[in-house]
Amino acid sequence: MALSERDKVSGHMTTGHEWNGIKELNTPVPRVVYIFLISATIFSVTWTILMPSWPGINDYFRGLLGADQQAEVRQSVAEGVAERSSWTDAIVDEDFTTIRADPSLMQTVRETGKMLFAENCAACHGAEGLGNPGFPNIIQAPTMWGDDPATIMETIRVGINSAHDETRYGQMLAFGRDQMLPLSDVDRVVTYVQTLSDPAIATADNAEDIGEGATIFADNCAACHGETGTGMQETGAPNLTDQYWIYGGDRSSIRHTVYYGRQGLMPTWEGRLTPAYIKLLALYVADLRTAAK
Ligand code: HEC
Ligand code: HEC
Repeated sequence: MALSERDKVSGHMTTGHEWNGIKELNTPVPRVVYIFLISATIFSVTWTILMPSWPGINDYFRGLLGADQQAEVRQSVAEGVAERSSWTDAIVDEDFTTIRADPSLMQTVRETGKMLFAENCAACHGAEGLGNPGFPNIIQAPTMWGDDPATIMETIRVGINSAHDETRYGQMLAFGRDQMLPLSDVDRVVTYVQTLSDPAIATADNAEDIGEGATIFADNCAACHGETGTGMQETGAPNLTDQYWIYGGDRSSIRHTVYYGRQGLMPTWEGRLTPAYIKLLALYVADLRTAAK
């Protein structure tokens, strides 16, 4: 057995153990590590005494401080509900003008409305409400049914051509398929409708067709779309003189509309959204429409 000796290179003592000529230096674990281990142990033992920790058979040790994260969660949920009910009450009780004049309520309308719109409306009307083929732009386009908040609220509540008893009802008739107009008249009135939004369509060659188309329009279409084609809220018939189209403004789309008719479905939201949410969405849409003007 070798004796402990001083290592020449490092200057440390060796332990006296030797393996095939390799000697082990006697360098103990530094004191700071012991201090750290001891204080960590003291801390953990104290912590298990103060905080909920050891499991028992039916229960667990609750800790001397009585900390309870479930209680904290319950409390913040309760606070959230209280805050929501304070603004839901205001949304339900106040009239539209008062709400629109209240900046803090309108901030709630914008934040919550954006979320509700994304969840319930964006699939059809697009994320910004600017429409998709077959689904109207409800922010920038002239309104079909009316765009004061109360009217929008009613549209959302009952829907259009929906399953609701009081649904709004609007139908573009199938003038071609149902033989309400001969095909030649369908073509003429389509050309006339094109000129309403794009006067450049009119040339010397089609002047006669357009003239006859105007008469066909006055006799068959004006009752719903208005004398000048700007739409009527009573019938829900859209404005045909602008650049916004639900089903497309190119000749073949317009012809398809006049030949086969159209009947878009806007679902009813009564029973699916609370009255407060329906009102809030109406305010949200009206607010975006105002901002877009
Ligand atoms: C399943 C598709 C669909 C969903 C979802 C949908 N809509 Fe509609 N919406 C339509 C269609 C189609 C129309 C046009 C119906 C028509 O006039 O023929 C319409 C029309 C409207 C109108 C009337 C526009 C005008 O010019 O008067 C408003 C307002 C409206 N939607 C708001 C909403 C809101 C708010 C939501 C979400 C709660 C929503 N829509 C969800 C399909 C949808
Ligand atoms: C009974 C009322 C009614 C009559 C009559 C009627 N329309 Fe319509 N029209 C509507 C309604 C309602 C819509 C919207 C349908 C929808 O959104 O699904 C519409 C939609 C349209 C569209 C589609 C607009 C778009 O944005 O894509 C065109 C084009 C159109 N009508 C042209 C005509 C022409 C041309 C005639 C006459 C030959 C006519 N309409 C007669 C009610 C009518």
